Amino acid sequence: MNPVFDSIADGLAESGYAVADQFLSQQEVESIQQAGGFKADSEFKKAGIGNKQSLQIQEGIRGDYIKWLDRNDAPESVRVYLQRLDELIQYLNRALFLSLKDFEVHMTVYPIGSFYKRHLDQFKKDDHRKLSVILYLNNDWQDSHGGQLRMYLPGQTKDFLPLAGRLVIFRSDEIEHEVLPATRERLSITGWVLDRLAELKHI
Ligand code: OGA
Ligand code: MN
Repeated sequence: MNPVFDSIADGLAESGYAVADQFLSQQEVESIQQAGGFKADSEFKKAGIGNKQSLQIQEGIRGDYIKWLDRNDAPESVRVYLQRLDELIQYLNRALFLSLKDFEVHMTVYPIGSFYKRHLDQFKKDDHRKLSVILYLNNDWQDSHGGQLRMYLPGQTKDFLPLAGRLVIFRSDEIEHEVLPATRERLSITGWVLDRLAELKHI
């Protein structure tokens, strides 16, 4: 029994979301930061809206930059995280009787002042994204820096700071959310757990 996984399963079952602080230890987070994957700006592409043929860049909706990760090619420190995500998925399949099969994941940079307006992660014509999973990598993040993930829940909103080591996971089909603008660059690894095998990413 893993108490962190257990509380994530409870949160998902009861409210459709869960937050786990220190899903990665500070040391594990630092190893990812030091691996330098976020530094090669040229490898990051402007993120779009929609998928495949309908992908569009819309500056007024989202301003982040992304780099898809290939798990066989990712730095060891990132693989530590992806491995833990695998374990979490196996756990959720057993605990919640799900049939999650794989995930797709990218590194994400929100430059200062950028945001992602209110949206749902599941695509209109493709419902294979079941859970959205975000690991934040920002040391010493304060309220005054902005950059909150805002979730729109029944009758209320909830804000979460993008704190280093914090994992936020929620139902991709149900929970609308947005990213507020920040006064600092904001780093994360963003993923979606799928009910089928992930496709290769060419971008
Ligand atoms: C997304 C998203 C939230 C966050 O990439 O779809 O909503 O807190 N990210 O980075
Ligand atoms: Mn989203």
